[in-house]
Amino acid sequence: RKPARLTNMRKAKIFQMVLATCFGSFLLVIYLFQSNLNEGKNLRKSGRNPLQTLYSNDQIESDAQVIHQNRRELLDSVCQVYARKRRVLTPDDLKHLIVDDRHGLLYCYVPKVACTNWKRVLMVLTGDGKYQDPLKIPANEAHIPSNLRTLSEYSTPEINHRLRNYMKFIFVREPFERLVSAYRNKFTRKYNTAFHKRYGTKIIRRHRPQPSTDALEKGDDVSFDEFVYYLVDPHTQREEPFNEHWERVHSLCHPCILHYDVVGKYETLDDDARYILQLIGADKAVKFPSSSQTARTTDDMTAQFFKKITPFYQKKLYNLYKMDFLLFNYSKPSYLTFR
Ligand SMILES: *[C@@H]1O[C@H](CO)[C@@H](O)[C@H](O)[C@H]1NC(C)=O
Repeated sequence: RKPARLTNMRKAKIFQMVLATCFGSFLLVIYLFQSNLNEGKNLRKSGRNPLQTLYSNDQIESDAQVIHQNRRELLDSVCQVYARKRRVLTPDDLKHLIVDDRHGLLYCYVPKVACTNWKRVLMVLTGDGKYQDPLKIPANEAHIPSNLRTLSEYSTPEINHRLRNYMKFIFVREPFERLVSAYRNKFTRKYNTAFHKRYGTKIIRRHRPQPSTDALEKGDDVSFDEFVYYLVDPHTQREEPFNEHWERVHSLCHPCILHYDVVGKYETLDDDARYILQLIGADKAVKFPSSSQTARTTDDMTAQFFKKITPFYQKKLYNLYKMDFLLFNYSKPSYLTFR
């Protein structure tokens, strides 16, 4: 496992900074130790950090250990085949990584994959007792940037230290289910006027043959096929990065550079969330909110949306999201009709 590197600064300078960071983390360890004494043993079961717990052989739940090892190995092998070019990360690439310095955690949030609940849980974990119950935190509060810190806010040596020593995790979901979920949430709800104005009007202008003036102005009735035309249009990507709600996980979280320690899946959200909270010794202190099944986008629903898409566009869209299918072991959906 090679640690991710951020810059090619001169060695001497790095050495100085590493020393400074080590000293900083020494203070941090002392702080953690003391706060443990004060608050009882809720947050940490052992003196080990979660990475040591994860990669040691004496875990309680060995089924989970095997599942997660297999996911890591699959991810690594796909990266070796498809993403051999290494590139240097910039702080801007780390905007999606949320930092929990208290437990030594880095979480890359992917919209439409339980990220509101993970942000809530991280607010509990990093809040120094300010919050107890994740579900008492309003959803909009969980998305206020200043409530959580992201890795891009740290200095280069601080970033490298965290990339090497913290447990990195991510949650992923079947790519087209995530896409349909994003479409339903952003384009079929009347209240999302910001998305209608910003993206809807543009999509209708470019991809609807004879739009009404009302539609051009409001942008609130984008159909799923128009959304797909927009996504696969090369013009769209040349213009600016995709919005995070439909950007590929591969581009949001750089899994082939960062080597995530735990790959959680939306399909096994409850088990995977419990596993992570156990690894950091916080499973007694905080419960991951169990998912509501009522409004969620399912595979059947996704298949319905794809019925309207021609095989030609299905294929283009599949190619666009192909890395997310491969990296996270999702097979090509059976409802797709291209060869
Ligand atoms: C990949 O998916 C297949 C089929 O769903 C499954 O049998 C296999 O265990 C998965 N592999 C990993 C590493 O998760």
